[in-house]
Amino acid sequence: MRDLVRETDLLPRHLIYPLFIVPGSGLRREIQALPGQFHLSPDEAAAEAAAARAEGVGSFLLFGRPPEGGKDPQGSGAWDERGAVQQAVRALRAAVPESLLITDVCLCAYTDHGHCGVVRGGDVDNDATLPLLARTAVSHADAGADVVAPSDMMDGRVGAIRSALDAAGHPHVPVLAYAAKFASGFYGPFREAEDSPPAFGDRRSYQLDPGNARQALAEVALDLAEGADMVMVKPALGYLDVLAAVRAATTAPLVAYNVSGEYAMVRAAERAGWADGTALALEILTGIRRAGADAVITYHAREVARALGRR
Ligand code: PBG
Repeated sequence: MRDLVRETDLLPRHLIYPLFIVPGSGLRREIQALPGQFHLSPDEAAAEAAAARAEGVGSFLLFGRPPEGGKDPQGSGAWDERGAVQQAVRALRAAVPESLLITDVCLCAYTDHGHCGVVRGGDVDNDATLPLLARTAVSHADAGADVVAPSDMMDGRVGAIRSALDAAGHPHVPVLAYAAKFASGFYGPFREAEDSPPAFGDRRSYQLDPGNARQALAEVALDLAEGADMVMVKPALGYLDVLAAVRAATTAPLVAYNVSGEYAMVRAAERAGWADGTALALEILTGIRRAGADAVITYHAREVARALGRR
């Protein structure tokens, strides 16, 4: 009877699994701040995706970084056609042809100052950043990405990316906008993994103030008006009210990001012997779904897909 009356489903098809791609080959190194997650070269990422696919995970979000010493003020490694992400997209396309490949579009892992855009006069220059993001998105689509996901939070980037994709012959590549992305301490482990903390200041001039839910709705509306096909709320756990509000305000597919700090907290409690990590993950992800997310980006994807398969 409980099955009959259950209101909220959590299924492997709702999960998007992030992968951290590094240049090279044969590399699979555990990320210290994200136990159970790995830095993967494109070939190893393809193997990881194939294993996840066999467990029922069919969607992947790819993050990259440049080779050692490859950062510059513009973040030009982001649109290198031989970059780690671009190579990984091609490798995954071959290894898991039926899977959905989403790429994160941002500059922070590629700029020598660690900001998500180019810096002028000590702050991020929003408009000068737009063409660079657009170029990055096109390079991902050229490599075979199914969906591009800008995470930079510059104003106007969805429109700039949409026009650039259309002009480059990718009218069918949708944009998943990190629309309501808050300036959060929960990105800490990710920034360690990506080596992308800002060298000065913080991201509060372009990411949202955690106190602002109405502004989040305004950001979602702007991104949709610019042509976003799907929108995201990030982080998830501290922002379930925002997720529910966005769900009520739009018909667009809604994605939540269960971010690195949320994952690391669960793993830390598990390591201390204080909780069953997988049970926490199932409950957290069900809560995120119940709040209104159609899909959830989560480092727990494989573990949860396996647990769901055992039920
Ligand atoms: C890049 C980006 C970040 C995350 C996703 N894309 C970090 C940031 O904005 O500093 C965070 C993901 C996570 O914490 O799991 N802009």
